[in-house]
Amino acid sequence: MTDATLGGSTETISASELAEIGLRCEVDGEIATITLDRPERRNAQTFATWSALARIGDTLPGQVRVVVVRGEGPSFSAGIDLRMFTPEGVPGQGSFGTVATLDDTAFEQAVAEAQRGFLWLRRPDIVSIAAVQGHAIGAGFQLALSCDLRIVAEDVKFCMKEPALGLVPDLTGTKPLVDIVGVSRAVEICLTARTVGAEEAFRLGLAELVVPGEELPAAVRDLAAALLGTNRDAATATKRLLQAAPGRTLEEQAAAERSEQAARIRAMFAAS
Ligand code: ACO
Repeated sequence: MTDATLGGSTETISASELAEIGLRCEVDGEIATITLDRPERRNAQTFATWSALARIGDTLPGQVRVVVVRGEGPSFSAGIDLRMFTPEGVPGQGSFGTVATLDDTAFEQAVAEAQRGFLWLRRPDIVSIAAVQGHAIGAGFQLALSCDLRIVAEDVKFCMKEPALGLVPDLTGTKPLVDIVGVSRAVEICLTARTVGAEEAFRLGLAELVVPGEELPAAVRDLAAALLGTNRDAATATKRLLQAAPGRTLEEQAAAERSEQAARIRAMFAAS
């Protein structure tokens, strides 16, 4: 298993380190594109993938406003690397056999570090877009769910396979899934571990847009451009408001709107 040190890192992860883990991260102005880049393993994920994602989040350049998460090859991600279920595990990272021997604190830290790789994608100062083609299974589905928005290709196949393998989904996917589809549908999708295709994903709100596979990059570019067309600070404040809305009463939300707007208007006139 990788170093499970919790908390932010200030050290940028190099392109060659990322390549070894099966990731790429390219920053072009205000857009960062993270690519799962192990297509020969259908972008299967490991503890190293999640630690690296966390470090990308920790060290994201301040100018970035849009983060695109995509997968190379036919599948977005086939989920956790199945070698984790073997006695040998993933070289350098152990297996579930080793994880099972951790004490409660070490186990908690290891999973929290993995979850950190997903949680930063909801930060208010960025908008994250998952560009999903082919299979998004288990950890792959959860990675797509950890993004604010999902654009999918017509061949998308979402599947929460964990319960079929004796696990629970623990990579932060259960809350966004329930927030989007409701508890009943989430129970049905997870506990049958069935596949959700593009048409249903769109209908359930799991995808904002469905496009033919060859149009996925252009659709992501168009959405990113539209997102970058709004004022950066207003976008951050608005996302903060929208994210907090479900947990507030109408009156509390109205108060939060007043407070955010006061800051906006003061900033606007202080600047002029
Ligand atoms: N872990 C490790 N290797 C994998 C994984 C995985 N999750 N998924 C695919 N691979 C490997 C295959 O073993 C195969 O390797 P090989 O060429 O050495 O034989 C290669 O990737 C290509 O896989 P295929 O099955 O040939 O590709 P195909 O496109 O036909 O099918 C699919 C893709 C449907 C994703 C299939 O590979 C699959 O079902 N994978 C396992 C999915 C899974 O159960 N994931 C765990 C979910 S639970 C969780 O994430 C916590």
